[in-house]
Amino acid sequence: MKYSAQQCAVNPAADCLIVGVFEEKTLSQSAVEIDNVSGKYISRLVESGEIGGKLGQTALLRHVPNVTAARVLVVGCGKAGELNERQYKQLMQKTAQALKETQAKSAVSFLTEIQLNQRDLYWNIRFAVETLEQDSYQFTQFKSQKTAEKSTALSEVTFNVGADDQATAEQAIQHGAAIALGVRLAKDVANCPPNVCNPTYLADKALDLAKTSPLIKTTIINEAEMEKLGMGAYLAVSRGAHNEAKLSVMEYRNASNPNAKPIVLVGKGLTFDAGGISLKPAADMDEMKYDMCGAASVYGVMNALAQLQLPLNVIGVMAGCENLPDGNAYRPGDILTTMNGLTVEVLNTDAEGRLVLCDTLTYVERFDPEVVIDIATLTGACVVALGQHNSGLVSTHDDIAAALEKAAQQSADKAWRLPLSEEYQEQLKSNFADLANIGGRWGGAITAGAFLSNFTKKYPWAHLDIAGTAWLQGANKGATGRPVSLLVQFLLDQVK
Ligand code: BES
Ligand code: MN
Ligand code: ZN
Repeated sequence: MKYSAQQCAVNPAADCLIVGVFEEKTLSQSAVEIDNVSGKYISRLVESGEIGGKLGQTALLRHVPNVTAARVLVVGCGKAGELNERQYKQLMQKTAQALKETQAKSAVSFLTEIQLNQRDLYWNIRFAVETLEQDSYQFTQFKSQKTAEKSTALSEVTFNVGADDQATAEQAIQHGAAIALGVRLAKDVANCPPNVCNPTYLADKALDLAKTSPLIKTTIINEAEMEKLGMGAYLAVSRGAHNEAKLSVMEYRNASNPNAKPIVLVGKGLTFDAGGISLKPAADMDEMKYDMCGAASVYGVMNALAQLQLPLNVIGVMAGCENLPDGNAYRPGDILTTMNGLTVEVLNTDAEGRLVLCDTLTYVERFDPEVVIDIATLTGACVVALGQHNSGLVSTHDDIAAALEKAAQQSADKAWRLPLSEEYQEQLKSNFADLANIGGRWGGAITAGAFLSNFTKKYPWAHLDIAGTAWLQGANKGATGRPVSLLVQFLLDQVK
């Protein structure tokens, strides 16, 4: 989709005009102007109740008298006043669906007039772009009939803005489009089935990205190299799998000071998590192909970054691995030696994410990071605690936690901080090793974070548990692309 912003004429030429109407039967400013051109055609329909203003209600008018555009889409905006971002996104989704029913190729949106609660025009347009792009997403790579679902004919949207707002609007479009690209690519990788998307597939994606983007250099660490590095925990998880584990490192360097310390993003990339010898139950096990959504989000962010060319140094790492049972698989009771020297007693082979991550978190010390953020579908306990709407946030540094909370709020990609205090470490005591890999029944999302914090002492660190937010279940089963939007917002905020 092509997006642009400009001050449009009252009666512009386009295949479709999009205007708002409120529940109180009042029209938005441009709708009034178009209504005047049409000799009150629209307001008469509103008066008679033919067109309603309930949030997300839509009415498509064709050949409105004296209106140049062949169609006018009237969108219900609810009660006049401010909409929250969720209502606004719902409204945008309905708009996209209504447009899908038409053959309109170009549209001019006057919904830029809709006032959002504590949000300015930038957010009005950025959320519009993000929502329109999300709505047109389909994953048809593995369908033999690729045309089964209806896709939109729309290819061009112009946002109507005042001349003074043009620059702001263009920036909103640029940011929204880059985030949407990152979200789409993260979804594509995440939705890909585990017989195709294995650690080597992730590595190939990382290598391809470096080929198309001169600011990115990719390095792949294979198992032989992990062996030399002493990554005993990571390798143990991979032992039951035939597909080799691969750690993909994407280095994006574009800070004005080339030696500026990098921001490091580490994504859990379990391309399938069967639980290992502590095998998971069969129900919904297919969803464990999504256990690489942390890595997918890192991949999405790196793509968005390459598009935005932000003046930052950012290193994106995907810790690719499979967790499967096998005669050679690691067992409960095994004691592993991690890369930083700490030993870990395995009490449950299904708590594998933290084992893959702990060695990766030690590995990234070599970059002398400004901050490290890991993103992982780490615990079912996080979903129990926070549900599917907020990602869990654990951090040893209040300022980073605050920056991530702010980015989450801004981007409407929600996250909620969980406490991390000394007591939780006590749950990880082992009789036989330095640490146990599970912390007992209570506070599982926190004890998982507490486990990781033993490996992050050399830099400021935060952890996002996206077990509840990375994909949807049921009829709409599919990756969400979260938390790409949160992370890109965090990076945008880091640009001084
Ligand atoms: N990948 C899972 C976490 C998960 C489970 C994410 C369900 C989303 C939905 C992780 O590797 C895991 O199995 N965690 C265990 C930890 C437990 C053994 C301490 C869990 O949450 O049950
Ligand atoms: Mn597991
Ligand atoms: Zn897992």
